[in-house]
Amino acid sequence: MKKISFLILALILTVMSVAGCGQAAGENDAEVEESDAIQIGFSMDSFLIERWQRDRDIFVSKAQELGAEVNVQNANGEVSRQISQIEYFIEKEMDVIVIVAIDGGALSEVVEKAKKAGIRVIAYDRLILDANVDLYISFDNEKVGTLMGELLREALEDEGTIICINGSPTDNNVKLVFGGFQKALQGSDILIDETGYADHWLAEIGFDFVSDYLAKGNVPDAIMCGNDDIATQVVKALSENRLAGQVYVTGQDADLAACQRIVEGTQHMTVYKPLELLAQRAAEMSVALAEGEMPETQSVVNDGTFDVPFEKLDPVAVTKENMDEVIIGKYHQKNEVYLNVQE
Ligand code: BGC
Repeated sequence: MKKISFLILALILTVMSVAGCGQAAGENDAEVEESDAIQIGFSMDSFLIERWQRDRDIFVSKAQELGAEVNVQNANGEVSRQISQIEYFIEKEMDVIVIVAIDGGALSEVVEKAKKAGIRVIAYDRLILDANVDLYISFDNEKVGTLMGELLREALEDEGTIICINGSPTDNNVKLVFGGFQKALQGSDILIDETGYADHWLAEIGFDFVSDYLAKGNVPDAIMCGNDDIATQVVKALSENRLAGQVYVTGQDADLAACQRIVEGTQHMTVYKPLELLAQRAAEMSVALAEGEMPETQSVVNDGTFDVPFEKLDPVAVTKENMDEVIIGKYHQKNEVYLNVQE
């Protein structure tokens, strides 16, 4: 009996080592790989908003395809945590650090530290101010606002009263989106009656902002929302006041819920930003930087102190009219978007 057990044990051990699942062998392999492959640290703001998981997944899979390894850290909306995570990446001697900045004005010191350590730094989607990052890659955020403004002008035939609830005031994109939006309204008779900001991109702030406005007995013709997550809360506030579908609402990100509202008629438009392009290009650029190359970019942006190479991608406005062409099959499936719409 003992002999049989011994034989079985020996057989199991042999199979394990051939399959490479012996612990020591596995660990050693991982170590060799770790030291050979390009190491990328990706510090993200949070995953609360739908899009960021896609950004992460596409980025990681493209980087892996190019032979790099990615360590993703989630700062959960806390600036101090984001700084510690970047410091950890510096300690780990990453080749490249990619950052979705929570506060564009709070990272210049830690970026300087990374650069002094010879690490390349990429600002992903949101610019980091006064930091001289090696590269900034994002969409044309001013154009995101312009598209919202232009479509509202058309819908309102150039006149009316609107309110705006922007995203986080520490996110550099917010200033750009709102700037583009205001510029697009110039020359029209559309009046912005009140403007608010959703600190930390907390969409519930949008709910309170609109509820308070409506409680005063005002009904705006349109509500400009900083993103679709805010629009979700805004439409909730409108619907509690039986106004959903009667007030034009804008957003960005082409979140599934927003696309559903667009075809259902409670949101006027969103802005689709092809994340596939952004995340894949960012992964390619990270690998190029790690290999000592400087990828070409079409433009340059000033970060307050330095001119930074800027890879600028194009956003696309989405309404009921072009939903099928732009979104269906590419970003969301038809049955998901039209879930509540009768044929
Ligand atoms: C991005 C938006 C996103 C928002 C909140 C912004 O910087 O451009 O796409 O909805 O952050 O995460």
